[in-house]
Amino acid sequence: MPVKTIEWIDGRIRIIDQTQLPGKLAYLDIRDIKVLGEAIQKLRIRGAPAIGIAGAMGVALAAQVYRGSERKGLIRNVKESIKFLRMTRPTAVNLFWALDRMEKVLDSVADEPVDEIQERLLQEAMTILEEDRQVCRRMGHHGASLIPEEATVLTHCNAGGLATADYGTALGVIYAAVEMGKRVKVYVDETRPLLQGSRLSAWELIQSGIDVTVICDSAAGFLMGQGRIDCILVGADRIAANGDVANKIGTYTLAVLAEKHDVPFYVVAPISTFDFILASGDKIPIEERSGEEVVQGFGLKTGPEGVDVYNPAFDLTPHDFVTAFVTEKGVLHPPYEESLLFIQPKVV
Ligand code: MRU
Repeated sequence: MPVKTIEWIDGRIRIIDQTQLPGKLAYLDIRDIKVLGEAIQKLRIRGAPAIGIAGAMGVALAAQVYRGSERKGLIRNVKESIKFLRMTRPTAVNLFWALDRMEKVLDSVADEPVDEIQERLLQEAMTILEEDRQVCRRMGHHGASLIPEEATVLTHCNAGGLATADYGTALGVIYAAVEMGKRVKVYVDETRPLLQGSRLSAWELIQSGIDVTVICDSAAGFLMGQGRIDCILVGADRIAANGDVANKIGTYTLAVLAEKHDVPFYVVAPISTFDFILASGDKIPIEERSGEEVVQGFGLKTGPEGVDVYNPAFDLTPHDFVTAFVTEKGVLHPPYEESLLFIQPKVV
C-alpha cells in the first residue's frame, strides 16, 4: 500500500483516520493519550497489528509528554496510560502483547534518568513498528506459495496495509503473489456493519492496482457454490493455543461455507496474534459494539426506533475449519496441536 497507516513524527503519532475512507484520505496528528484512546475505540485506527503499534506508540507518547524531572512521576504516568490503553478494545491480543512488551521495557529501565526512559520507550515502539513491516512481508512471501498462478480469492473485513504498518496480513499475501507475477482477482465482502471490506480493503487494493470486486456478505456462499473462489484469505484478532480463531464477525460463516464447497480457508496472522495462554477460542473476549452501528450506520436509519440490536464485532472459527495458518515462520498445517508448537514461545 503506498501510504503509511501510522507513523511517529516529531513527538506525535500520525494516523490515517480510517473512519473517513474511502471518501477522504485524512490524517490525524495525536499528542494526547485520551485522543489516542478515542481513536482506537472509534476505529479511526483498527486492525489487530495496527492497534498494537498504536498502543506501543501511545506508551512512548505518554513518556514524551511528561514534563517533570521526577523519575517516579514519569513511571506512574506511563503505567496509568498503559492501564487506560488496555481498556480501549478487548479482542485483538496484539494490543495487550505490545503493551506488555512496552511495560517490560519500562520496568527494565526504571532506575535510569527520565530522558533515558523516554528514549528507550520510543526506541521500543519504533522497533515494534519496523518488526510489523518485516513480519508482514515474510507472511506475504510464505502465503503467496499457496496462491495459484491465476487465482480468484475472497477476503473479509480489512487485513491489509490499513490494519498493519503498511502491507497487511491477508492482503499482504495478495500483494506478494502479485509482486511474484501471479494474476490475482479479489472479491471482498463489504463486511457489515462498519464496511471495512468495501470502505478499506477495496480502497487499498485499488490504490495498488489490484482487480477487486465488492460483494454483499450474503453473496459469498453463492460465489463459492458457483466454483468462482479458489481460496479464502482472512486475518485474525486472536488465535487460541488450539488454533481457534477470533476474527471479524462473519468469518465463521465463511469458514463453514468454505468447508461445504471445498474451498481452502487460510488465516494469515503474525505470531503476536496467537494467545498461547488461552487453551481454546471460547475463552477469547468478544467485543460487543453499539447497536447504532447496525441500525443507524453512517447516519442512515435502517431499523425502527428503539429496536433491540445485538452487535458482536467478532466471531469464533473452530480450528478444524482452518486449512492452514500463514505466519512469519511459515505455513502451518493440521494437526495444529503439533504444528503450532513450532511457533510457541519457549518458557524459560
Ligand atoms: O474491528 P476491526 O476493524 O479492528 O477488525 C479487524 C479485523 O477483524 C481484522 O480481520 C483483524 O484485525 C486482522 S488485521 C490484520
